[in-house]
Amino acid sequence: MAEDPLYVKHLISRVAGLGAGTGAKTLIVGCAPAIQGVSQHVNDLKAQSFVDVVEIAPGDLGKHKQLDVDLKVHAVLVAAINSHSMIKLGNICGAYKAAGIPVVIITGWPAPTNRDKFKFESKKGGNLTVVGMFDLAALYCRGIPGDILEFGSFQGYTLQCAYHAFKWRQPSNKRRFISFDSFSGIVGARDKETFSDGIYAASEPSFRFANFLADVPDESVETVVGPYDVTIGKNIEKTREQLGPTEAALVHIDCDVEIPAKLALNFVTPYLRQGTLLMFDEYDLQRADNSLGERAALRQWLAENPEFEVEHYRSYHISARSFIVHRKSA
Ligand SMILES: C[S@@+](CC[C@H](N)C(=O)[O-])C[C@H]1O[C@@H](n2cnc3c(N)ncnc32)[C@H](O)[C@@H]1O
Repeated sequence: MAEDPLYVKHLISRVAGLGAGTGAKTLIVGCAPAIQGVSQHVNDLKAQSFVDVVEIAPGDLGKHKQLDVDLKVHAVLVAAINSHSMIKLGNICGAYKAAGIPVVIITGWPAPTNRDKFKFESKKGGNLTVVGMFDLAALYCRGIPGDILEFGSFQGYTLQCAYHAFKWRQPSNKRRFISFDSFSGIVGARDKETFSDGIYAASEPSFRFANFLADVPDESVETVVGPYDVTIGKNIEKTREQLGPTEAALVHIDCDVEIPAKLALNFVTPYLRQGTLLMFDEYDLQRADNSLGERAALRQWLAENPEFEVEHYRSYHISARSFIVHRKSA
């Protein structure tokens, strides 16, 4: 996972001021090659009072014990070399997460925090990327009032894309960004599905800190935290009441598996308008089997809600698709 040095520099500049005057530190934990990858800055970093660095050789990951919580540390940044090391490093930092301290994986895709990145994606042609799709979504939604509702946020990457795309394309249009997530990973995967329960576990503090790193103001993002069978299942009326009036300009479904995706669709039904954009991150996954995943959820929801139709808008990334909602009565 090679990182854009500018991105790393940006991250470091975001954490640099946080400890000023308080002695609070940011801990960077990573596999040696990833840390070196992220850091011609490492030596600079080590010289800074606001950063501690723990380097772990990839071969030692399996036997490394969990790090004890140092109360001076206010956030942990994890630099992994691949998804396997990401999981292992996550375990090594487990006590921090349990103590409510943000643990944010900084290797992977940097969120686009400025318009240049969106411009680059727009010009590129060829495959529409996730970033490119959010840019297009922000343009498409210009005439559609309403909010951005995301089901499945993990560390916030796609919500950050949405926030920056809408900020760039519609600076004067005030919209709410609402994230629905257990923040403890997938809940409700069926045996046949590629994903299993518990993967993509983050934590709300980690999500919020990742947003901070990506220049998304905390007050811009609302969260509904908990497993969907509770928040938008058993407690659906309570959640609707807490959210107050909303309508959906964009609904992004990225909870990977059928049961939560169907709960998400049930929840947004009264908020959908003619033209609402529905995005599914895993629509064509699992051999595009109609009986599995987000695809199965949409089919079932359409069968139960004949007043709606959806029209394919764009396919993007590897298995993602977006659709325009039509309300037949509109
Ligand atoms: C693939 S990750 C989302 C990735 C994210 N959009 C990003 O940009 O990195 C899937 C997310 O769905 C959430 N999720 C899955 N099933 C859920 C459920 N039943 N209730 C609440 N959250 C759920 C997980 O906690 C996880 O954060």
